[in-house]
Amino acid sequence: MILRPAAALVAGLLFAPSGPVMAVSPPPVQAANGMVVTSQHLASAAGISILKAGGNAVDAAVAVGYALAVVHPCCGNLGGGGFATLDLVDGTTTFFNFREKAPLAATATMYLDDAGEVIPRLSLDGYKAVGVPGTVLGLDTMLQRYGTLSRQQVMAPVIELAEEGYVLTEGDAAILAIGTEWFETEANVAAIFLDDGAPWQQGERLVQSDLAATLKAIAADGPDVFYKGAIADAVVAASTAHGGILAKQDFADYTVVETEPVRCSYRGYEILSAPPPSSGGTIICEILNILEGYPIGELGYHSAAGIHRMTEAMRQAFVDRNSALGDPAFVENPVARLVSKDYAAAIRDGIDLEKAIKSEDLKPGVAPHEGTDTTHFSIIDKAGNAVSLTYTINAWFGARVIAGDTGFFLNDEMDDFAIKPGAANMFGLVQGSANAVAPGKRPLSSMSPTVVLEDGKPLMILGSRGGPRIITIIAQAIMNVVDHGMDIKEAVNMPRIHHQWLPDTLFVERRALSPDTVRMLTDMGHTVEERRNWGAAHAIMIGSPRTDDEGPAEPGSQARPLAAPDYRFGGSDDRNPAGAAIGH
Ligand code: GLY
Repeated sequence: MILRPAAALVAGLLFAPSGPVMAVSPPPVQAANGMVVTSQHLASAAGISILKAGGNAVDAAVAVGYALAVVHPCCGNLGGGGFATLDLVDGTTTFFNFREKAPLAATATMYLDDAGEVIPRLSLDGYKAVGVPGTVLGLDTMLQRYGTLSRQQVMAPVIELAEEGYVLTEGDAAILAIGTEWFETEANVAAIFLDDGAPWQQGERLVQSDLAATLKAIAADGPDVFYKGAIADAVVAASTAHGGILAKQDFADYTVVETEPVRCSYRGYEILSAPPPSSGGTIICEILNILEGYPIGELGYHSAAGIHRMTEAMRQAFVDRNSALGDPAFVENPVARLVSKDYAAAIRDGIDLEKAIKSEDLKPGVAPHEGTDTTHFSIIDKAGNAVSLTYTINAWFGARVIAGDTGFFLNDEMDDFAIKPGAANMFGLVQGSANAVAPGKRPLSSMSPTVVLEDGKPLMILGSRGGPRIITIIAQAIMNVVDHGMDIKEAVNMPRIHHQWLPDTLFVERRALSPDTVRMLTDMGHTVEERRNWGAAHAIMIGSPRTDDEGPAEPGSQARPLAAPDYRFGGSDDRNPAGAAIGH
């Protein structure tokens, strides 16, 4: 372990005014063999059942990917797409891109009226919003390439969850309740996700027979039934009937790409994360590279000085996110430059440590920027294979439509394109033409499934939901562990901040900053706005609960987990009460 500030403090080596942060957060779940952390406890249990049956982390990830489509239908999916970062014990590090593609009939102006203005919600609701789904081919390709069990074996517990149903917890019912008004407008959606027209309640059993039939067809016939068979037929028929542009060719042509993850380092730890068409890994690296030049731990958790530096790093990196990145099959992505330490140093040179930069004064193409509701889960098995996977149908319940009796929601990922370069999307992102709509192109994403390595072995596996906030959530979780010495549960639970260049606003979660800290930041020129909490990070840390010695205990203080070389510590974000870390 690298010597962290608290240990250094004990040794009298460093002045650390705030010391390590001690949040009142439950300890992480710990286990000796494997760990699965997801947004829903039954999905975590399905993953653990696969590990216990002798499957590896990839087998478990495929089971969880299908299981979340059943037990977390807002976000887990068959009708969306995503990314996975794998670090395997045989030395393989790899990345799967199963992001949705724009249909072949898509055009750059398809969401604009004759006057060139954005038609409200056309890229968000209904069949015009739907990109060609990638999840089924993505999960299956991962399984064939790196799994050890059969498709039928990993899908068996999932089919049972859909066919027999599952009892809703309070957290599950709360998520379904968000969709009530949308469900009411679609008869086939209401028939499943409303109970005689009323929201499902905690303690009731949700059975999904249509979805069970779809899952059985995929288990039996593989991705072909989804991309070339009855499921593609059903989606295309429903799309055509409702003014959509999806065609059989879109499904038949869909491909998954296996590629290298983005790599960088932060204070000696190696980071593997998502390359384009995700902006996530590149921009996390850019933010952390900028912040590496500042003594973040010594400045203290959420001090005004620390928040100012974090905000400026986020602001600068999002200029690049929103202007320089897009689908690598269509545009040149300057990733090597954006993740370089020299580029970060050049950006740091322009940051005023006493004063906020105005976002309107930062522009793509001006030095140094010249040149050009999602869900995450983390898994490690007994051998040490790590899978970090984030996938999405974009908004809650995606485009809010289900084709016929297929039983799964379709995505509204087309809104992740710059539907009108310069206009804000659902997340307030103002993006450029690198991310304009084109046939067969994948929209730029912020999903960031990440693995952090120490001495070549996984130390952290993490990711989150949250649109562009995913990027800053992951950067902060890594800093919480590396700079502030938190355990993995504290690291994902602690309050967050976010800045994305435009709008020029520093968003902070409730109680993230004290009033006098906000005053100091306002005096520096920041516009600070409080928001209800966001994101849901699900993470694992391996080998030790913390990277530092947490210092002397007060009498009667809570017992903390102990380090053991191969222990796995799971932290599920309490912002997502339906979620769970389960180990074995
Ligand atoms: N749909 C959110 C993202 O991909 O970043």
